[in-house]
Amino acid sequence: MNTKWWKSAVIYQIYPRSFADSNGDGIGDLQGIISKLDYLEDLGIDAVWLSPVCRSPQDDNGYDISDYRDIDPMFGTLEDMEELIREAGKRNIRIIMDLVLNHSSDEHYWFQEAKKSRENPYHDYYVWRDGVEGVLPNDMRAAFGGPAWEWVPEVQQYYFHQFSVKQPDLNWENPKVRREIYDMINWWIQKGVGGFRLDVIDQIAKEPDHHITGNGPRLHEFLREMSRETFQKADLVTVGETWGATTELAKLYSNPDGSEFSMVFQFEHICLDQIAGKEKWDLAPLPFLKLKEVFARWQTELCGQGWNSLFWNNHDLPRIVSRWGNDGEYRVESAKMLAILLHGMQGTPYIYQGEELGMTNVAYEIDQYQDIETLNLYKERLEKGYQKEDIMRSLHAKSRDNARTPMQWSDAENAGFTTGKPWLKVNPNYKEINAAQQRGDADSVFGCYKELIRLRKEYPVLIDGTFQMLLREDENIFAYIREDADYQLLVICNFYGQTVRCSLEEPGGSYQLLISNYQETNHGMILQPYEARMYLMRK
Ligand code: NOJ
Repeated sequence: MNTKWWKSAVIYQIYPRSFADSNGDGIGDLQGIISKLDYLEDLGIDAVWLSPVCRSPQDDNGYDISDYRDIDPMFGTLEDMEELIREAGKRNIRIIMDLVLNHSSDEHYWFQEAKKSRENPYHDYYVWRDGVEGVLPNDMRAAFGGPAWEWVPEVQQYYFHQFSVKQPDLNWENPKVRREIYDMINWWIQKGVGGFRLDVIDQIAKEPDHHITGNGPRLHEFLREMSRETFQKADLVTVGETWGATTELAKLYSNPDGSEFSMVFQFEHICLDQIAGKEKWDLAPLPFLKLKEVFARWQTELCGQGWNSLFWNNHDLPRIVSRWGNDGEYRVESAKMLAILLHGMQGTPYIYQGEELGMTNVAYEIDQYQDIETLNLYKERLEKGYQKEDIMRSLHAKSRDNARTPMQWSDAENAGFTTGKPWLKVNPNYKEINAAQQRGDADSVFGCYKELIRLRKEYPVLIDGTFQMLLREDENIFAYIREDADYQLLVICNFYGQTVRCSLEEPGGSYQLLISNYQETNHGMILQPYEARMYLMRK
């Protein structure tokens, strides 16, 4: 069954501008990443998902690409990228590129041409609507605030943008656009990349006249064509960022026949702590029973019929230890608990840089933030009359910059990230939380992640085993069983900071404790704050 390498792989996400700076300009770069490959090899990961490094005006930190076949000078050169692929390859690490195909930058040659005239051969590469200046085609809004339409006087038309005005949406209805994209993907495959992460890929088949953005009618037709023309020609991993996926849709995206992607990256579990029907900034406590229900549904419904990503973090999400763990007294215990809970499940685990150290959120003043979404939201909510304190509370909890503070390598100045001035302020806790201090320590958060990665390689039950949720109604404990012909694996986690009694029978006899987050676990079924245990029984 388990023939695909990416099923037993663990993927590490790098946000290049915040990972390691080799030239002192305050921004991370490709040579910086190359200098840290030994660290990644030590951790044991199989592949690196690189957030975008292509040429870009950086309006949305690289998610606005102006040349898909070149590297932004801020990150290095094409030669550096080739060197990275080669050097990573020597350590059996594959490099996964981030493909941003829903939109380009407005500074891309295609758009520069497209806006010159309606007759220009590139005009139809984007989504235009006739109109009158000041009268928008409809009321659709962009994800980073403001209308989804922008007027271009030269052509007397509006173009459509789901994200910032500098990210015009590409017109996937146009076969020439699709061809250009496939050729570009094949060019990267030739360069030896190990796969692709596809940014907001469920939004490419938009139909703005019908207010359709996600999951448009032609979406799966486009995806199958792209897969056929590109991915299927090599042994790649492909992961689609699909915000709106249900389990039914996920079975299409990640159909085991390989017709679309290897796996989905969906967000149902990670969007639970917000007021239903509102925005992520509208904070609500995590509904724990719902979290268990969501995980159980994805685990059972995709088993054998699709493939999921397992994640708590990425460059758009706050740090999990601050979010659903405890970044004070129990930082280490709760970071490990969250890791054990997640890595015991079926799917491909993703570790976002610094997660393996238990890095935390930050609480900055507004002028210390850099993220376009954060800054726009602040302005928009102030205009709408929100109190400044309420906006700041939302930003401290959910700003994307929580994830983007520089990687904490050591207790040296700027956390060892740069010798210059970091583009975004380093989290002040770097003296206590850093890689240098944890790397050689098996008992650290790093040590726990390293061991979890190793276990995934050793026990196929972690890859293919079935899933059964236990104690669905328990308000504190997250427990489940994985099972195959040879093994049964039992994971029991206290999700909160109080000591609780677990009503499961104590796993005695042939159960062996594989990993836990406390030295002392011989308390029977009394679970200490955030205690997590993973047991294994050979049948
Ligand atoms: C999703 C990416 O993860 C996010 O960082 C970006 O801003 C949007 N897509 C737009 O490309």
